[in-house]
Amino acid sequence: MAKMNETRPDNSRIVNSEEDVATLRKRIDDIDEQILELIGRRLDAAQAIGRIKQQRGITVVDNRREGEIFQRLSALKQEPLKTGSLYRIFRSIISVGRSVQKQPSQTDVMPIYAVFGDPIGHSLSPVMHNSALAQAGLDGCYLACRVIDIAPAVDGIRGLGIRGASITIPHKINVMKYLDQVDALAADIGAVNTVVNRQGELHGYNTDCTGAVKALADKTGISGKDVALIGAGGAARAIGFGIRQAGGRLTIINRTIQKGEKLASDLDCDCVPLSEIKELPYGIIVNATSVGMAPHDDRVPLDTNLLERETVVMDSVYNPLKTRFLAEAANKGCTTIDGLAMFVNQGADQFELWTGRKAPVDIMRRVVLDELQSP
Ligand code: ATR
Repeated sequence: MAKMNETRPDNSRIVNSEEDVATLRKRIDDIDEQILELIGRRLDAAQAIGRIKQQRGITVVDNRREGEIFQRLSALKQEPLKTGSLYRIFRSIISVGRSVQKQPSQTDVMPIYAVFGDPIGHSLSPVMHNSALAQAGLDGCYLACRVIDIAPAVDGIRGLGIRGASITIPHKINVMKYLDQVDALAADIGAVNTVVNRQGELHGYNTDCTGAVKALADKTGISGKDVALIGAGGAARAIGFGIRQAGGRLTIINRTIQKGEKLASDLDCDCVPLSEIKELPYGIIVNATSVGMAPHDDRVPLDTNLLERETVVMDSVYNPLKTRFLAEAANKGCTTIDGLAMFVNQGADQFELWTGRKAPVDIMRRVVLDELQSP
């Protein structure tokens, strides 16, 4: 077995030859042996703690201790390991540690959570929710499912006992008719992004809305403020209902006037066509269009020369994290809120609905950021 604690070898001199592949494979085999031995030692220690817990009549799972382990390790982690991957690896190790502390007759039934959408391959929800479950010391597995037909997928939630599901494009509207109950705000918005399974009864919520409002409320008051919402699609609809509920005085700004007026009429507010904007006398401005999203990240949703320095500017785009809109607003002295805050908050609200526990928001943001910033 290779020596422990050796410094990390420099692989940059490795050239592309059969010999090099053999050398690297040998190195991996040696490391695997070390990992195996260390896992054995970790399990011995866990078993010893298990015996003490049994003598004292203490339960096996200690959520706070598990949260502390993850926090400590994520501070120690080195490139190229990502925070989300670290959580995945150590969740398995901790879960095996727990199982050696239990009586052989005890069998874990893993709670399942999922996101339904199409396309779904690039969703950041699995890494965010799996890390959140681990940090909170909760058993559970969150999976990405490519769902083409939402009706049988909802049957699957009932049939498999899936505890909670995130619903994303293109199913947020259609899913509603298959649920047992839809929360009043989600019904007003006309879209559900979260399903909670309560003893076989499926309840629908919209945390896109509550998550966006929370991201704003963390930086500014909303009640009584003049708020401009750019866009009139699904995202604008969810954010608009939330802002109205929080007491903001809304104006919809949209490129296509008919679409803008339709949303304004549903929200009982004014609408101004984008082309007619000459000033921006608003306390808060929210971009709810996709303008500025990579690869077209040189675009802004409106003329930033019109921004006033007291304005709070929020962007629902989170790729790139610092959109040109937010960068120019920050240069003007505006307070800015990035789209990641909204994304993480909608996930945090889902987590709280599913588990009844406070979401570890900091770690959720860190793992998603890590994914977004990796090459
Ligand atoms: P989502 O459901 O994600 O909000 P959507 O329904 O396609 O997506 O809505 C996108 C919003 O962004 C719309 O309000 C759209 O304006 P139009 O109603 O005029 O189509 C707005 N949008 C998209 N591209 C835009 C652009 N280049 N300039 C201005 N607005 C744009």
